[in-house]
Amino acid sequence: MKRQLIKHVLTRRDYGATVTVAGWLRSRRESKGGFSFLLLNDGSCLTELQVVADGTLPNYTDELSHLTTGAALSVTGRLVESPGSGQSVEVHATEVTVHGEADPEQYPLQKKRMSFERLRELAHLRPRTNTFGAVARVRNALMAATHQFFQTRDFVCVHTPIITGSDCEGAGDMFAVSTLDPEHPPRGADGCIDYEQDFFARRTFLTVSGQLEGETHACALGRIYTFGPTFRAENSNTRRHLSEFWMVEPEMAFADLSDDADLAEAYIRHLIQHCLEHCHADLTFFNQWVDQGLLARLAALADAPYHRLSYTEAVDRLLSSGEAFEFPVEWGCDLQSEHERYLTEQVFAQPVIVTDFPEAIKPFYMRLNDDGKTVAAMDVLLPHVGEIIGGSQREERLDVLLERMALKGVDPEAYRWYVDLRRFGSVPHAGFGLGFERMVQFCTGMQNIRDVIPFPRTPRHAEF
Ligand code: 4AD
Ligand code: MG
Repeated sequence: MKRQLIKHVLTRRDYGATVTVAGWLRSRRESKGGFSFLLLNDGSCLTELQVVADGTLPNYTDELSHLTTGAALSVTGRLVESPGSGQSVEVHATEVTVHGEADPEQYPLQKKRMSFERLRELAHLRPRTNTFGAVARVRNALMAATHQFFQTRDFVCVHTPIITGSDCEGAGDMFAVSTLDPEHPPRGADGCIDYEQDFFARRTFLTVSGQLEGETHACALGRIYTFGPTFRAENSNTRRHLSEFWMVEPEMAFADLSDDADLAEAYIRHLIQHCLEHCHADLTFFNQWVDQGLLARLAALADAPYHRLSYTEAVDRLLSSGEAFEFPVEWGCDLQSEHERYLTEQVFAQPVIVTDFPEAIKPFYMRLNDDGKTVAAMDVLLPHVGEIIGGSQREERLDVLLERMALKGVDPEAYRWYVDLRRFGSVPHAGFGLGFERMVQFCTGMQNIRDVIPFPRTPRHAEF
């Protein structure tokens, strides 16, 4: 079927032209003169196209006059200047084909608004709602903007593995991948499970980050980025944690932490500008229905400078704030969401980059600072979402890396290939990971991360 997208038809002014559109019926209103107004949405944009279906159409009485919300239709007709307010064009149908009806007794998406919680149970149908259609389009725009940003800066996109034997973040919260029979796994003489007999003849997991593998290509191609799914088996039930989420991880050779922070700022600004430019209607919708501060916040952050300060300074700021935090602050603690948001929303009222965290709370690969107590790490904090990016300069000195591995209980044999990068042509290098869903949250104002990924995976939830 040759059809035009509604978003294109709505901008046309060549009245009289014949157009064909197809989509799902949002509503039908019967008018006195024996005809119906059909509001059609095809997902190409937020706005519905108004179709006038005349009572003289051959299938009007039998089919069209019974149409209900959710039915799938294609319409051929004449483009007409719309007399009604709210739209500039409409289509006067000469032919309407009904592809699939939607029984109003059963179809759950009726006119009345549903809670986001309820819609999560309808993840197969929720993209047909205004909100989730808009989320999907903004998410797509952010993905396109990501590739555009890195491609125009000569970063090479690298696909790092999803199944891996390494634990990048060292937190141990990984999903195991195995084809062994869970009821009767083969056991060795010592009674332990014999992974030699597993599919990969070793223990394997779903990756928590593509970084370690990404570094191999940065230390060959210079500048790379990954964009892939990552998995964390942590039992976090918050509005900003998923068990499966997407991460964008650039990595640059011949770069230090300050280059890394510069790249992070430029990337986030680019994402926001791209969204403002390409998703105006969807953002306006979010601003009206989801988060009334959204457009102002995005506009303010499209060019905003970022405040950079060290972890030690950040802790001082939090301690002297007099604020009663749920998690008390002291030097050495990890910053919690409430601390992050307090810094970026209250103290500085701008994006914040916290650098140089205590080495004790960070993974083995981060570069040890001269003070011996902190590492060259950074977290980028945005209002509304808190930590959006985690990154660091990587430890490029072989002896220091081996010491750090020993200290953290990481077996250098298992990471021989990673250590090799420091033995052969080692260079200062740095990179970061941006949590893609948190960025979608930031750009849409959506409160819960489960509503910005099509099929959220969280503890105890993996339907669909
Ligand atoms: O801070 P993280 O754990 O950093 C890394 O994994 C590094 N290896 C990245 C790198 O340097 N290449 O995760 C990076 C970002 C966080 O800042 C956050 O935005 C997001 O990933 N993130 C999550 N998003 C949703 N659900 C979760 N459970 C997340 N965990 C981290
Ligand atoms: Mg982090």
